[in-house]
Amino acid sequence: METSRLILRQWREADVDSFAEMNADPRVMRYFPSTLPREHSVQMVGRIKTHFDEYGFGLWAVEVKDQTPFAGFIGLSVPQFSAYFTPCVEIGWRLAVPFWNQGYASEGAQAALEFGFTQCNLKEIVSFTVPANVASRRVMEKIGMTYIDNFDHPALPDGDPLKRHVLYSINRPDWDGLQPN
Ligand SMILES: CC(C)(COP(=O)(O)OP(=O)(O)OC[C@H]1O[C@@H](n2cnc3c(N)ncnc32)[C@H](O)[C@@H]1OP(=O)(O)O)[C@@H](O)C(=O)NCCC(=O)NCCS
Repeated sequence: METSRLILRQWREADVDSFAEMNADPRVMRYFPSTLPREHSVQMVGRIKTHFDEYGFGLWAVEVKDQTPFAGFIGLSVPQFSAYFTPCVEIGWRLAVPFWNQGYASEGAQAALEFGFTQCNLKEIVSFTVPANVASRRVMEKIGMTYIDNFDHPALPDGDPLKRHVLYSINRPDWDGLQPN
């Protein structure tokens, strides 16, 4: 997929090094349990590719035109945990620090929402993060998502400071209403 400044594409072997470097950066992983060792990043790319094969959508590798072949990922995925709002499709994003605060996540996420609603016929897309992740929450709001609820992430142990999450959502009629005629 192409937006004015980005290309959202399938993963290439050459992305793995930059992906591992991004996931090893504590600033990027501040709201996750830990940074990822290279081996986990390699495994994650494998899981992302399998997800595309299974569902026809996934976390696309993001290229910034004329700037970098790999800035991170933006896309759609099916969470593997159980909660009152699952099964569902989640929209998510992770970019390397040099590409923050330039509107890239919002721009790519809008293309991902369009793909989910028009190509995959999804009825609703959710997103979630920890309450303190204001940049991510801001992206959710900028693309038209609405705060729904708080929930405790079942994959994190009781007492973990990251357990509490905020849930956002957008449904097809609301997304349709935001599109220019
Ligand atoms: C979340 C993330 C993808 C956002 O990417 P991005 O390209 O910078 O996002 P955008 O530029 O589209 O929008 C970011 C918004 O957050 C705002 N923002 C960023 N940091 C902020 C802060 N500390 N306080 C308040 N607002 C903040 C920006 O000003 C911008 O809003 P604006 O356009 O209204 O000014 C990026 O910060 C990232 O990769 N973080 C680490 C990984 C992560 O946490 N992913 C999400 C997990 S749920």
